[in-house]
Amino acid sequence: MAHRIHNYTGEKIDVTYDAGRCIHAAECISRLHSVFDNSKRPWVLPDAGLADGVAATILHCPSGALHYERKDGGAVEPIPEHNTIYLAEDGPLYLRGDFTIVNGVGELVVNDTRAALCRCGASQNKPFCDNSHISIGFVAPPKVSEPQMTLETLDGGNLHIETTTNGSLHITGNFVILDDEGETVYQGTDEWFCRCGGSANKPFCDSTHVKIGFIAE
Ligand code: SF4
Ligand code: FES
Repeated sequence: MAHRIHNYTGEKIDVTYDAGRCIHAAECISRLHSVFDNSKRPWVLPDAGLADGVAATILHCPSGALHYERKDGGAVEPIPEHNTIYLAEDGPLYLRGDFTIVNGVGELVVNDTRAALCRCGASQNKPFCDNSHISIGFVAPPKVSEPQMTLETLDGGNLHIETTTNGSLHITGNFVILDDEGETVYQGTDEWFCRCGGSANKPFCDSTHVKIGFIAE
């Protein structure tokens, strides 16, 4: 889904904001209120803080709604060395890494380093989370039922995510799954993740999407 990107120009750093991806986690507002203040318009003032602080705050944005571009020679946004999938309890999958999301017919959705992906099935902004998990009372453990770890080597590289039509997320590439305490509980290279909300084997797909007639482009 294409969203309108808002641009906030500063002297030393420019900020972009994709409102369609923001899940109002308020990391930005609580960390750097002088720059990010949603009671004001414009709500982002890049010059109201040090560029290093603006950049560091944006890297905490879990949804990937915020990005920056330095104009003062500061470091570009880093690409995480490893791909991680954090299981939020009763909430989305938080991705960090170097990933490409394509839809079920192979069209590019986004290349990014941060995203919050719907796994309750109710988002109106699939494949991204829109906080619908809260209103539907989604329940999902922040664990995997069968931990699987072979962490002798932890490789990175591009993660490829296909949002299959009316089905699961097919994720290929090197990744680890983190539980709600940030502990690594699974290491994988090719898995199907539930995004209909119905699997009895979350976070993985167990084909319940077929039985419940899940619809998602
Ligand atoms: S940190 Fe990101 S997701 Fe959270 S409120 Fe700010 S822009 Fe939105
Ligand atoms: S997408 Fe939920 S069980 Fe397959």
